Amino acid sequence: MSNKKNIRFDFNNMMPDRVGEEHGLCLADLQKIGAKSKGYMEELLLERAEGKLPFFDLPYQDVSGILKFADGNKGRFENFVVVGIGGSALGNIALQNSLNSLLWNEMSQEDRGGFCRIYVPDNVDPEYFGGLLEHLDPRRTLFNIISKSGATAETSAQFLIIRKRLEESVGRSFKDHICVTTDKKGGLLRKIVDAEGYENFLVPDGVGGRFSVLSPVGLLSAAMAGIDIQGLLDGAAAMDARCKAVDIFKNPAMMNAALQYLFDVNKGKRISVMMPYSNALRDMADWYRQLWAESLGKRFALDGSEVFCGPTPVKALGTTDQHSQVQLYVEGPNDKVFTFLVAENFRKELPIPSVYKDIEGIDYLGGHTMNELMNAEQKATAFALASSRRPNCSVVFPEISPFTVGQFIYMYEVSTAFAGKLYGINPFDQPGVEEGKLATFALMGRKGYEEKAREMEEWGKSAKDRWVI
Ligand code: PA5
Repeated sequence: MSNKKNIRFDFNNMMPDRVGEEHGLCLADLQKIGAKSKGYMEELLLERAEGKLPFFDLPYQDVSGILKFADGNKGRFENFVVVGIGGSALGNIALQNSLNSLLWNEMSQEDRGGFCRIYVPDNVDPEYFGGLLEHLDPRRTLFNIISKSGATAETSAQFLIIRKRLEESVGRSFKDHICVTTDKKGGLLRKIVDAEGYENFLVPDGVGGRFSVLSPVGLLSAAMAGIDIQGLLDGAAAMDARCKAVDIFKNPAMMNAALQYLFDVNKGKRISVMMPYSNALRDMADWYRQLWAESLGKRFALDGSEVFCGPTPVKALGTTDQHSQVQLYVEGPNDKVFTFLVAENFRKELPIPSVYKDIEGIDYLGGHTMNELMNAEQKATAFALASSRRPNCSVVFPEISPFTVGQFIYMYEVSTAFAGKLYGINPFDQPGVEEGKLATFALMGRKGYEEKAREMEEWGKSAKDRWVI
């Protein structure tokens, strides 16, 4: 199958002929926002040309350094552990699980083509992280510490534990088991890299965590697992060409942002469910959830007014969640908009045999494939939702390949930047995450946070026993 197929964005089920006038958007709505969006798109293109939005240009980076590193280490290590969190982990998981077998880590080194198993323990759960370190042979493991800021508590703690364990297990060669991806300057991790001389890669200047999957942040682990990273970037570049259109009817990123925005703001659909009908694409919904939530959930608009805006992204998985969430989606409050991720072709075809010819209630499945069943169930859910006036759209993957996944990632990143314009907020910061980070520093006794520690202590004392049962 060709690897140059375009993904398609199908929003038929958002229009009034499918979901009615009250819950659908009509052509006039789209033309109106299209006219406004043209100006926003021109602004984005200008900001890009001025170098203010470097994530836009990631498809054109030179990845020879990453490929050389991956090639040089092939066969040397069996395990590659991504040590990062949020934007420094979710894209890595999504790439690995969409483009390699979901059983990759259980396959033999030979079946993996000599490439590494990939682990992304993006949490500081001591049982989980400690258990993983006990499970992995340190002599055969390479750790990639990823942190743009170089000061994230979770990543720093993991790094400290890993470094000590490596020193204890492999001795002076511990540095060969660590590589670092961080900011060029400033961060504490950069200081450590400079002092201790770890192999390192750059998080490009001005590219925030959740927009960094197509930089060394996401590409290094992908290359270590044999994923065609140039194919990913080619897909992103192909989507870039489509996303430069200032006509909303030709620009999938702009149309997606406009639809999501209009449903949220004008139609009271404040929840945005992404539901892949493919296990391979499941973690793309997790990646999207962070991108959409952290970028668009904001208290202040750019003009300083309080807006408390942001749709709530939710992930679901078809068909699994048909047996968990779909009752709510079809009959509960009509406050959601749905995006299906549809795989037109899977990398495997699984025929369903005909066994019980005399039991029609089971035998009707025989002679079909599981592929047909999966896609029939997606269509059926879209139909059921549309029939009960629930707007839904689909991103259709003609196949799941680096080229289509690259397109999808880029489309959603541009969509997010564009949605920021529509909401009038800055999609590239995350001030709401800061308070929790500062409080953690205080609780963990970091110097300079004594005042916050006192505030936390007072706050702790104000808790009353009677509110605990
Ligand atoms: O998108 C973001 O900016 C965040 O989710 C960060 O990626 C996350 O907080 C981790 O930050 P860092 O890479 O600085 O350790």
